[in-house]
Formats: sequence, C-alpha cells, structure tokens
Amino acid sequence: MGDAYKIAILAGDAIGPEIMAQAVRVFDAISRHRDVVFELIEAPFGAHAYFSHGKSFPDETKAICDAADAILKGPVGLSFEDSKKIPVDEQAERGAILPLRARYQTFANFRPIYLSKDMAHFSPLKPEIIEHGIDILLIRELVGGLYFGEKERGVNAEGLRYVHETLAYDESQIRRVLTVAFEQARARGRRLHNIHKSNVLMSSVLWNEVLDEVHADYPDIEVIPMLVDAAATALCLNPSQFDVMVMENMFGDILSDQGGGILGSLGLMPSACVGPDKAYFEPSHGSAPDIAGRNIANPYSMIGSVAMMLEMSFGMKAESTLVWDAMKSVFEDGYTTADLSAKGVDLKTVGTDAFGDLVIASLEAKLAAPTH
Ligand code: IPM
Ligand code: MG
Repeated sequence: MGDAYKIAILAGDAIGPEIMAQAVRVFDAISRHRDVVFELIEAPFGAHAYFSHGKSFPDETKAICDAADAILKGPVGLSFEDSKKIPVDEQAERGAILPLRARYQTFANFRPIYLSKDMAHFSPLKPEIIEHGIDILLIRELVGGLYFGEKERGVNAEGLRYVHETLAYDESQIRRVLTVAFEQARARGRRLHNIHKSNVLMSSVLWNEVLDEVHADYPDIEVIPMLVDAAATALCLNPSQFDVMVMENMFGDILSDQGGGILGSLGLMPSACVGPDKAYFEPSHGSAPDIAGRNIANPYSMIGSVAMMLEMSFGMKAESTLVWDAMKSVFEDGYTTADLSAKGVDLKTVGTDAFGDLVIASLEAKLAAPTH
C-alpha cells in the first residue's frame, strides 16, 4: 500500500477554476504511474464563497483545510467594482487570504522567480541581461509586519481623519524565517541577499541584528545586505546577481510582483506558503477578472504550485522535477497562451485547456519512461 494524501482544493474566483482544472490533472497522472493516492476535497473560498455561504472563508472550508495534508489554493477576488458588493471585512484579501495565512502561521513564503533559457523570450529584459535565464528564490515573511499589525482609523482632535497601521515583529518571527532562508541558501548557491531598510526603519534594525545572530550558525553562507529600494533597481539591471533573497512581508509583496515583471508575467509565479505544521500553495497573482471565462489564462503558476507541493509537502522531488520539465518542454515546443505575450517571437497560441493537455501528455510520457 503506497502513500495517501488528502489535499484541500480551493479553486478560487475568476480564472481560478480554469487554471485549477488543469492543475489537478497532475495528481491524476501521477497516481496512475506511481504507488500513491491523492484524495482531493474541493471547498468554497473567496468571493464566490461569500455569495454562497455568507463568508469568504467558511467554517466548512476551515474544517476541510484543518484535516488536509496540504492545501492548493487558486487566486481569489473580484474586480475593484464588483468587490464593492462585498463588505470590506469579507472581501477575499482581508476575509480569506490573510485569515488562511494566520490560521496556519505560514510564515515562510517561497516565491521562485524563474525563467529557463528557453522561455527567456517572455522577459521584457534585454537578452544580454538574461542570457542564462533567471533563477532567484525570493523568501518573503508572510504573517507579520504591517499586513497583520494593529490598525486604527478615526478623527483626531483637530477634526482630521487619521489612520495608524503598525509594523510589528518580535525576534522569534524574524528568526524563524531567516533560518529557512539560510537553509535554502545552503541548499543552493550559498549566497543570501538580505533585503532591508535599516537606514529608516527600526524593524529593519532588529531584523539585521537577528540576522547576524542566525548567520553565526551558517558561517558557510555569504550574506549580502541590500536596501529594498536599491534591490528594486538591481532586480531589473542585473537579476543574475541574486540567488536567495529574504525580506519582511510588505517588501516581499512588492518585490515579488516585480519578479513577475522581469519574467514577463505574474502568470509565471507559483508559490509555497509554509507554516510549522501545514503548507498551502498558490499562484502569487490575482484572479484576473478581466480575462476570466475566456480560456486564455496560462495554468503555469497553478501547475507550478502543485510541483512545489509534491516536493515540499510530500517529498516527491523526482515527480516534482518531471512536472517542471513537462511545462518547460511545452514552452520549448513553442506553445503559449494568449495572456503571455512575447514580442517578435513566433509562438503557437492555444487555450488554457489545450495547454493543460500538452503538459499532461508530456508528463505522462516522462512518468511512463523507465526510472534509473
Ligand atoms: C500576494 C497578494 C496578497 C498579499 C493580497 C491579495 C492580500 O498580493 O499574495 O502577494 O498582499 O500578500
Ligand atoms: Mg502581492
């Protein structure tokens, strides 16, 4: 009897169900070729859950996630206009995503900024800048800082509307994510870019103090400190200087989207959100309501999130690599979807589902090949 894993499937809103439909086919393909069973349990999450259940993260979904070995989440949320139909506290960001992160304390967010040489045409950067492709692992602290700090809004004594948002971290929150980053640096190129703003922010001063303490346990790792604003420039001018980068929550939110920018699309950004007991996996992008229902969204970020789950939650590194290779081979063969543009390159544009067919066919062939 092989392993059996329970996976909560939160398809999400807008393009979410379209790209999720392709991603779950990976589980089916692997279980047909390997001695493993995946039990997939779908649950409502996001704006559609608010309309059907009155909550964007309903209790039944919490129970399903609690009982699952891992969670696969599609993008959630509606257009700016449609969001107004939902009370602010129940909108997908505040009502679903942040509570999901808080519930499982998924403090370490792995956001690979990766483009193989064969996919370099998607990047807006000049070929000479990315001749070796792009291969960065951005690690973002995900459950602290401004996004989770106390907030207050009101009218002050002078009658002016004011707001307070708190950027809070204690040293244990900083230490645990830095430890993950040092471990990743050790497994990769032994270089760690520490992204901070200690010339202005007290939170960065504490962050850097804790970093020095953790660094003592990793003397083999070179630490390169860089101010966050300078890092934004460096990501465009010379991304190949980066290997592993680590930063607090809001810096990571912003710089990881810039990562999508240098790849050519946020649609090329899968991610893993890892907590002490459970991890969930999601594309880093939103639900793209403007292109929903048209069968044009590329499923790469959703399928890549499955690949990350296979390796990180189930230890199936070999199968995870086959999933990445399958996706790469489809791009190498010149296929794309309409949402991914590449100027001046002759590509065969297919639909979301046909792109999924190609990935699954390639994956099946790789799974069926004899292993050595
Ligand atoms: C992301 C998103 C979320 C964030 C939003 C949707 C709450 O932008 O995962 O990067 O800010 O973390
Ligand atoms: Mg973001």
